[in-house]
Amino acid sequence: MIWSPAGGEPIKAPNEAINVFDFEPVAFQNVPPAHFGYMASGLDDEVTLRANREGFLKLQLRPRRLRDVSKVDTSTEILGTSYDSPIFICPTGGNQFFHPDGEVAVAKAARAGNHLQILSTSANYSVEDVTKARGAPIWFQLYASPRWEVAQALIKKAEGAGCPVLMVTVDRVAGRNQETLFRLTRRDTRDCASCHDRSSFASRVVRRHNYDGIDLSGVTGSGEAANLTWDTIRRMRDVTRMKIMLKGIVTAEDAELAVQNGIDGILVSNHGGRGEDNGRATIDALPEIIAAVNGRLPVLVDGGFRRGTDVIKALAMGAKAVGVGRPYLWGLGAFGEEGVARVLELLRTETRVAMQQCGVRTISELNPNFVRRAT
Ligand code: FNR
Repeated sequence: MIWSPAGGEPIKAPNEAINVFDFEPVAFQNVPPAHFGYMASGLDDEVTLRANREGFLKLQLRPRRLRDVSKVDTSTEILGTSYDSPIFICPTGGNQFFHPDGEVAVAKAARAGNHLQILSTSANYSVEDVTKARGAPIWFQLYASPRWEVAQALIKKAEGAGCPVLMVTVDRVAGRNQETLFRLTRRDTRDCASCHDRSSFASRVVRRHNYDGIDLSGVTGSGEAANLTWDTIRRMRDVTRMKIMLKGIVTAEDAELAVQNGIDGILVSNHGGRGEDNGRATIDALPEIIAAVNGRLPVLVDGGFRRGTDVIKALAMGAKAVGVGRPYLWGLGAFGEEGVARVLELLRTETRVAMQQCGVRTISELNPNFVRRAT
């Protein structure tokens, strides 16, 4: 449940943090137990959640020497737009669970480091408000909803807000057993019903402003869309000019289908171990996707990235960019916008240093020869 190394006093200010884990115990102190549990939880035995971290330990770097790394450029280009950093903000729902400024605080921190931000359908703040706070277009993550009209209305909203990319999440088709969440909810003495009205979906999403003005009659849930198929994705293509990416692809077979269906990019993700407890780290799934796609689409990855060395392992294996979820939520829960900014700064610094240590000046100089599997 807690990843930060044991011992030591919780930090008192963002600049005291030595690494991203330092924010986690502070967030644990500040955030109500049920909300912390929602963030920390994997599913079932949390094998996938742990695998996402442990996958990096099975990979070693092969640094090169004597290559003048006094100047390093960490920028990356994704679908024609250049970002100063290869680290992007993963979509996570309900950021006000962690701090009143929620996704707006995250956007301001992302703006400071020119990071790509992908906003969740289930965000508390609307796509318009977050785009304004970010000061540049953001991408919109879509939970399609079992009812097409709802998906269509969300797509229109994202397009109207200027989002260039629709990131459709395809790995939430069923309910989920979030045992850490359930256990921590039992420890929470507050009356959950005073904030969470569970009588209908429409009442549940009252503070999820992307749903404002959308007719939700007949809809019982958002994240889970058990009826999603490739036909649904093709239908989306017909109603939007935005580029379409899929989030949650973890096999070569589906990567090939994505190419055949005209998808613009893939995010290799297992939802941070929250989709199903499949046991496989995303860093272990990445090579088969890269091989299947063979340069025809950009491939992004997320899941368990906490260190600069994690980031460059994925980039060397062929990922265009790397997403983080929980680390920025630890920063948000600990210190709001300043906490998120410091988390991102630490990741940027570690990534830059890891590039120098490996003897590379640009991300394009990284290639699979920099990584080997430990035997
Ligand atoms: C998520 N994730 C997620 N994904 C998505 O497509 N839509 C969403 O609304 C959410 N919400 C969400 C909430 C919380 C609290 C977490 C932790 C995660 C998954 C997220 O985008 C990403 O795939 C993972 O968080 C990446 O793994 P790490 O960095 O958290 O290990």
